[in-house]
Amino acid sequence: MKSLETARLLLRPWQDGDAPVLYRWASDLEVGPRAGWPVHTSVENSLEIIHGPLGQPETYALVYKQTGEPVGSVGLFPPEPPLDLPAGAVQLELGYWVARPYWGQGLAPEAGRGMIRRAFEDLGCAVVHCSHADFNHQSRRVIEKLGFTYRLTRDAVDGDGNPRPTCCYVLTRENWERQH
Ligand SMILES: CC(C)(COP(=O)(O)OP(=O)(O)OC[C@H]1O[C@@H](n2cnc3c(N)ncnc32)[C@H](O)[C@@H]1OP(=O)(O)O)[C@@H](O)C(=O)NCCC(=O)NCCS
Repeated sequence: MKSLETARLLLRPWQDGDAPVLYRWASDLEVGPRAGWPVHTSVENSLEIIHGPLGQPETYALVYKQTGEPVGSVGLFPPEPPLDLPAGAVQLELGYWVARPYWGQGLAPEAGRGMIRRAFEDLGCAVVHCSHADFNHQSRRVIEKLGFTYRLTRDAVDGDGNPRPTCCYVLTRENWERQH
C-alpha cells in the first residue's frame, strides 16, 4: 500500500498511535451507525479496529494536512452484490466516513476521487461500486458528486436485524474516463 495525496488530505495506512483520535471520532453515534458499523466503545476497542477492519489492504486514514490528525477513513473492499463480469475483471467498492466536525467541507468527495483514481489507474479496476443506506442522504450526495450511476436497492439488515434497504451504484472505467 502506498500513501496518496489530495489537496487537503494525506491518505495513509492507519497506525496504532491513531487509536485515541479514532476513538474521539468513532464514538460519535452519528457516524458509525450511518455507515453500518457500531460505535467504538474505548480507545482499546479503536486499537482492535485498527488491527482489524481498518488494517485491511486499501484502507486509509484521511489525515487533514493542516493539523496532521486523522479526520476520517476511506477504503476499497469487495463489492456487495458484485456485477457478473468476465473472470479476472477487478471490481471494488468504495467506503468512507468523516468526523462530524469536518462534515460539509467536501472532504469525502475529495478522498473518494483520489481512491477512484487509484482503483482505475493502479489497481486495474473495471468497475467501482458504492452504496448507502436509503436514509443516508449525506452519503447519497457524495455518491452523486463522484459521478456514480444508480444500479439497484437491495434488502439488507443492520447489526440488530432491522431492515436497512441499501442503494447500490456503479462507476465504470468508461464513464470515469469520459468524466475526465
Ligand atoms: C457521508 C459523509 C462521509 C459525507 O462527508 P462530507 O465530507 O461531509 O461530504 P460533503 O461535504 O460532500 O457533504 C455531503 C452532504 O452532507 C450534508 N451535510 C453537509 N454538512 C452537514 C452537516 N454539518 N450536518 C448534516 N449534513 C451535512 C449535505 O447534504 C451535503 O451535501 P451538499 O454538499 O449537496 O450540501 C459524512 O456525512 C459521514 O461521515 N457520515 C457518517 C458516516 C457515513 O454515512 N458514511 C458513508 C456510509 S455509506
